[in-house]
Amino acid sequence: MKHLLSIDDLEREQVETILERAESFAEVTRRDIKKVPALRGRTVATLFYESSTRTSSSFELAAKRLSADVISVKASGSSVDKGESLKDTVETLSAYEPAAIVIRHPDAGSARMLTDWVEASVINAGDGMHQHPSQALLDVFALKNRLGSLEGKRIWIVGDVLHSRVARSNIQAFILMGAEVTVCGPPTLIPRGIETAGCEVRYSLDEVDGADVIYLLRMQRERMGENFVPSIREYARLFQINSRRLGPRQLVMHPGPVNRGVEISSDVIDSDQSLIAEQVSSGLAVRMAILYELLTGGSGATGAEAGSDGPVPIGEPA
Ligand code: CP
Repeated sequence: MKHLLSIDDLEREQVETILERAESFAEVTRRDIKKVPALRGRTVATLFYESSTRTSSSFELAAKRLSADVISVKASGSSVDKGESLKDTVETLSAYEPAAIVIRHPDAGSARMLTDWVEASVINAGDGMHQHPSQALLDVFALKNRLGSLEGKRIWIVGDVLHSRVARSNIQAFILMGAEVTVCGPPTLIPRGIETAGCEVRYSLDEVDGADVIYLLRMQRERMGENFVPSIREYARLFQINSRRLGPRQLVMHPGPVNRGVEISSDVIDSDQSLIAEQVSSGLAVRMAILYELLTGGSGATGAEAGSDGPVPIGEPA
């Protein structure tokens, strides 16, 4: 596997490999010294044309924890503001010979387009409404850690499915791992024909008590040119998950950022049934695993093996 562009491109076995690798990197993150030499001498470039807190910071930290050099470019404040095209920006970064380019861009298909322009591995950190594969992998990792397996688990994805690349990636990833997926929201926010992805559709929360996991999505107003619901208050009344609606054995997930009091209430965010903090911490280990698998082909020492707990040696050849 050279690139990570879409969950659609992955076999279950490849997902399992990344999750197993992530488990060993999660162990590294619990050590006093959290850095391993696996990608020493390699360069990872991150290029974000859209806002991000979790994805950008965790990919950057993941690369640093693997001892790679990191170049971080945010379109805002870069020469993109002066009219530089995506292709010219990517060719400029390629002059530093990055082993990987992590890109977030508002246009669907932009990450795949990069693969024609660069030698580097390309990682899709979100392309428009299309895909966010590393989010789906970290969500599977966090959920497996809590449940053991996703096999036969009933997962409801609730909210603005129409504008959500997370929904598209996660439907595929959850089904690939054996879960039964239902999407739920107002008809205006459910894409027509989404059933062909293998999920069921509901337009109310009436049957949500049958879910093992409720995965919430925020209203993605940055992608809306018009109003898709009569009002936020009305949306929250019909679709918010709060302590009144949440059953005692149900788990709640959210990719973040959350809009407290809209799709989810504050008490649910902060409850033991919420996996939101675990999703964020899983992001680091899973993104270390993605970088490692793409850049080494999974071969060689990670530096995470027993007995390698220690600082990266200085002065040794890479
Ligand atoms: N979940 C997610 O992609 O968050 P950020 O936009 O903060 O990266």
